Amino acid sequence: MGIGQQLYKKAKMRIPGGTQLLSKRPEMFLPDQWPSYYRKAKGVEIWDLDENRYIDMSTNGVGACILGFSDPDVDAAVIQVINAGSMSTLNAPEEVELAELLCELHPWADMVRYARCGGEAMAVAVRIARACTGRDKIAFCGYHGWHDWYLSANLAEEKALDGHLLPGLEPAGVPRCLIGTSLPFRYNNLDELVTIALNHRNEIAAIVMEPLRDHDPEPGFMEGVRKIAKEIGAVLIMDEVSAGFRLTTGGGHLLLNIEPDIAVFAKAISNGYPMAAIIGRKDIMEAAQSTFISSTYWTERIGPVAALATIRKHRLKDVSKHLIQIGQKVQAGWLEAIKGTGLSVEVGGMPPMSHFVIKHEQSLAAHTLFTQLMLERGFLASRAFYATYAHRDEHVTSYLCAVRDAFTVIAEALSSKNLNSKLKGPVAHLGFKRLT
Ligand SMILES: Cc1ncc(COP(=O)(O)O)c(C=O)c1O
Repeated sequence: MGIGQQLYKKAKMRIPGGTQLLSKRPEMFLPDQWPSYYRKAKGVEIWDLDENRYIDMSTNGVGACILGFSDPDVDAAVIQVINAGSMSTLNAPEEVELAELLCELHPWADMVRYARCGGEAMAVAVRIARACTGRDKIAFCGYHGWHDWYLSANLAEEKALDGHLLPGLEPAGVPRCLIGTSLPFRYNNLDELVTIALNHRNEIAAIVMEPLRDHDPEPGFMEGVRKIAKEIGAVLIMDEVSAGFRLTTGGGHLLLNIEPDIAVFAKAISNGYPMAAIIGRKDIMEAAQSTFISSTYWTERIGPVAALATIRKHRLKDVSKHLIQIGQKVQAGWLEAIKGTGLSVEVGGMPPMSHFVIKHEQSLAAHTLFTQLMLERGFLASRAFYATYAHRDEHVTSYLCAVRDAFTVIAEALSSKNLNSKLKGPVAHLGFKRLT
């Protein structure tokens, strides 16, 4: 057993759940075999504790490192500010500079607040919407973090039904009195939102959604959402935590010609340094002054400095164009690699955040074997691939060569019904599913 797996065994004794993020749990990739910990990460390369070097063709810091790990320009800006003092009794001037830049990129927005993580920034946005409207209920689709406002959707009148809406997200510890305050609808299903709006017309504080993720919006869907929000007086909150800065320099909503009332950014805006921004219209954002939203480390200086450096480089280098091209090559490569194997894959997601599913009743075991085979070939790989600016054509070419090998082995194992015997450990855990 590698040093990383040994350490992870220890971690599970000291840290409930082993890690702080479901998507980084080794069991989600390759139980008992995933390298689990890293010593160094640079560009697209990661070195584990056993000195193995991998090319990351998985989620690259769960979508945070859009420029690649340890980007030299962002790191240089951060190191400079560490040397100058990253925390003090006075405020960081870069907060104002970043607010101006975010409002320049999103001309509909006038004001900005900051947090450091996506989920907490979403909770801030929801609080502002509730404070602004004086209402409690939230209509939402998609995933928005771990906070009570969101998980309360998984409470039910009967305890036995808890958790059925968002499989895998248990609402234990979320006050039962929040039942019925978060109302889910599915992306591209305007009728479901219409029904919520009709049944709770004067109670909805906000409609919360991602602009896009797995699918493009159907014609009229986003326009319909915008119209409903206006009609019922709800704040339209676009969660750009994952979608933002993938398809353009700014929120994905810019490409859909939709003006939300609030948009929330995290992850990719600061290339691996904690930072989140809540941007919005003045009349709505001013409500942040009528409630208490305040935290010490939301004032440190690394986050805004990293965000300024990341966004400026993003714009200068047209990073999203590169992400789209790399993602398209990977998507096409998956479809090509499966040809002639007798299997089929379903490919989805916006190109910078792509994923595939091997269509088979044993798909979970097949995906686990995929990760195992790719690891043996020097790649961190799963069903999801998030492109970064550090990915070059040669990475994609060598990755797709290994994918072809892996798909061939998987197809043979499935047809001779001995796939499980090829696995060197248990099948991966099935994680939480999004209501997209
Ligand atoms: C759309 C969306 N919202 C919110 C979050 C939560 O962000 P964080 O993990 O930084 O709290 C995520 C994380 O994956 C996300 O994809």
